[in-house]
Amino acid sequence: MRTYRMKPGNALLTGLVLLLGAWVAAPVSAAGTGTGADNPGMKKCLRCHDEEAEHPVLSILKTKHAVVADERTPMSNHSCTTCHGASLAHMDDDAAPDITFHEKDASIGNEVCQSCHIGKHLTEWQGSRHQIENVSCSNCHSPHMAQDPVLDKVSEVEVCITCHKNQRANLVKPYAHPLRDGEMSCSGCHAPHGGTGNSNLVKNTVNDTCNMCHAEKRGPFLWEHQPASEDCTICHSPHGSVHTAMLKQRGPWLCQTCHAAQFHPSTAYSGTGLPGVNRPSGAQQMLGRNCLNCHSEVHGTNHPSGARFTR
Ligand code: HEC
Ligand code: HEC
Ligand code: HEC
Ligand code: HEC
Ligand code: HEC
Ligand code: HEC
Ligand code: HEC
Ligand code: HEC
Ligand code: HEC
Ligand code: HEC
Repeated sequence: MRTYRMKPGNALLTGLVLLLGAWVAAPVSAAGTGTGADNPGMKKCLRCHDEEAEHPVLSILKTKHAVVADERTPMSNHSCTTCHGASLAHMDDDAAPDITFHEKDASIGNEVCQSCHIGKHLTEWQGSRHQIENVSCSNCHSPHMAQDPVLDKVSEVEVCITCHKNQRANLVKPYAHPLRDGEMSCSGCHAPHGGTGNSNLVKNTVNDTCNMCHAEKRGPFLWEHQPASEDCTICHSPHGSVHTAMLKQRGPWLCQTCHAAQFHPSTAYSGTGLPGVNRPSGAQQMLGRNCLNCHSEVHGTNHPSGARFTR
């Protein structure tokens, strides 16, 4: 159980902070860009909560939520209590604030955020997988931090993989999207607040999502390769793979999961025909880019003689 009794000594400090707060805040608010530190809804909380407390909270004053001149923000209204509730019992007794944002039922805290954040980014939230799974806005967002980590490409990924262990493991495989260096983030492909497509993809289909960035694979091609126009993830693992180009399997086996009984031998190729000291003859289907040695345009082609994707 968490206790909400103040540590002795904090109050002394608080008096100081309040004095300081009033001194700093007054001239700034007059300019219309203040922090709201003089807001009555905040003063009563700052008796105990400051940067010295067990859980420092005042960095919120550096965020968009604290732009007093913007009358839509919490700090321009009732300040702390806009989000945490009046919390009268909390201030006098050893009782929790009205809203802590780690209630078992995430919707309690979410409703507070959604009292202001409706529409725009959040039209798909209701009924999204995260909403159904009791994930809260504050599981991803940290309104008390000067820079909300989930709004930054590099640190966003860190936030997501605290829960998504599979993706955490895939990310470090030798072939993966450049998610670790901030070139792109999970939300390059996924809409974190829910989307109309499967797996909360940004676009309705996998291919529409991939082709936002890989436009050269979009087609339409004169000669389409059916799986490529159907779903890129038939051959690629977008979260990372041990095979080059994030392929799900190495060629020729990748190709032979579908092409086992056609023009070429109907049995799966093996390593036995490989060239070596004692094995001068090799199967071209096994070497280097294997099937791709000849069928290089596996995503589709517009070449007049390209029905077999050879150019
Ligand atoms: C009499 C001192 C006191 C006052 C006044 C006070 N708090 Fe607290 N509060 C505490 C203590 C002690 C804790 C527990 C230690 C901590 O989290 O810093 C706490 C914890 C909290 C927590 C964390 C709760 C949790 O379980 O995670 C929130 C949120 C909170 N206070 C909000 C507020 C708000 C909002 C106000 C003003 C309306 C306020 N407090 C006024 C003493 C106080
Ligand atoms: C925009 C809504 C919002 C406002 C405004 C807000 N808080 Fe919070 N507060 C949260 C959320 C969400 C959490 C839980 C997640 C977190 O710690 O970031 C939280 C957590 C806390 C905690 C617990 C911190 C911890 O690390 O356990 C305290 C204490 C607290 N708030 C006090 C305050 C005080 C004091 C104010 C006014 C200066 C305030 N809050 C204003 C949303 C808000
Ligand atoms: C009283 C209304 C209000 C409440 C309650 C509120 N917000 Fe906000 N929030 C705003 C306003 C206004 C902005 C600034 C929007 C802008 O600049 O376009 C904002 C901005 C944000 C941003 C963008 C910050 C940035 O740096 O770009 C995030 C994320 C956010 N809020 C999340 C939350 C979360 C999570 C909660 C609940 C814990 C919450 N808000 C509660 C009004 C509110
Ligand atoms: C799964 C993590 C996650 C959850 C849960 C989540 N968000 Fe977000 N949110 C993000 C990410 C990532 C972004 C930035 C990328 C984007 O907008 O697609 C964002 C952006 C935002 C923005 C816009 C910030 C800007 O730049 O203008 C607001 C406002 C916001 N979220 C509010 C909320 C509210 C309210 C909730 C709860 C109903 C919520 N979020 C739940 C991850 C999340
Ligand atoms: C607090 C934990 C938590 C965090 C943080 C979190 N998620 Fe999730 N997410 C879940 C749970 C639980 C599910 C449902 C079970 C599953 O698919 O793993 C889920 C499901 C998903 C799904 C599948 C949706 C579907 O319809 O099948 C995607 C995509 C996803 N999350 C992306 C993200 C992204 C991107 C972020 C970071 C911006 C993120 N998540 C952050 C808990 C979380
Ligand atoms: C290049 C695009 C792309 C990126 C980047 C991406 N995903 Fe995905 N994700 C997909 C696609 C496509 C699917 C659905 C097909 C599949 O399961 O392979 C998916 C499915 C999921 C699912 C649901 C199915 C499952 O495997 O559990 C979760 C959860 C998920 N992604 C989380 C994440 C997280 C977290 C990140 C960031 C670390 C991330 N994704 C980055 C494309 C992407
Ligand atoms: C937000 C942009 C974006 C989206 C969406 C996207 N990618 Fe990528 N993709 C990249 C970037 C950036 C690279 C790295 C390019 C580089 O290193 O030259 C990349 C690289 C790749 C590579 C090549 C890796 C290699 O070894 O050459 C494959 C395969 C790939 N993506 C497949 C996909 C698939 C499949 C999807 C859809 C599920 C997808 N991408 C969605 C940006 C994106
Ligand atoms: C039939 C299996 C298959 C499908 C389906 C497929 N790919 Fe590929 N992809 C490959 C193979 C094999 C390579 C490796 C090519 C090489 O080594 O030259 C590759 C390479 C790539 C590359 C990196 C090299 C390059 O050519 O740019 C990207 C990017 C890529 N694929 C994106 C996509 C996208 C986007 C889709 C969906 C529209 C898709 N792939 C569907 C098999 C496939
Ligand atoms: C998911 C199954 C699948 C995978 C994996 C796959 N293909 Fe295909 N491929 C097809 C289908 C379906 C067709 C269309 C067959 C038809 O029209 O008779 C096709 C057509 C072709 C054709 C043209 C055949 C013709 O008759 O014109 C070639 C060549 C080909 N694929 C090569 C490859 C190569 C090389 C790979 C591995 C990189 C590969 N395929 C992976 C399903 C697959
Ligand atoms: C040495 C070059 C070469 C290699 C390596 C190769 N192919 Fe072919 N493939 C061809 C030629 C040539 C054709 C016939 C083209 C034509 O008739 O236009 C063909 C035709 C095909 C066809 C169409 C068959 C049909 O019945 O019409 C498929 C499917 C195919 N190859 C798949 C594969 C797969 C899968 C691999 C790897 C296991 C592979 N190829 C490796 C040269 C090659």
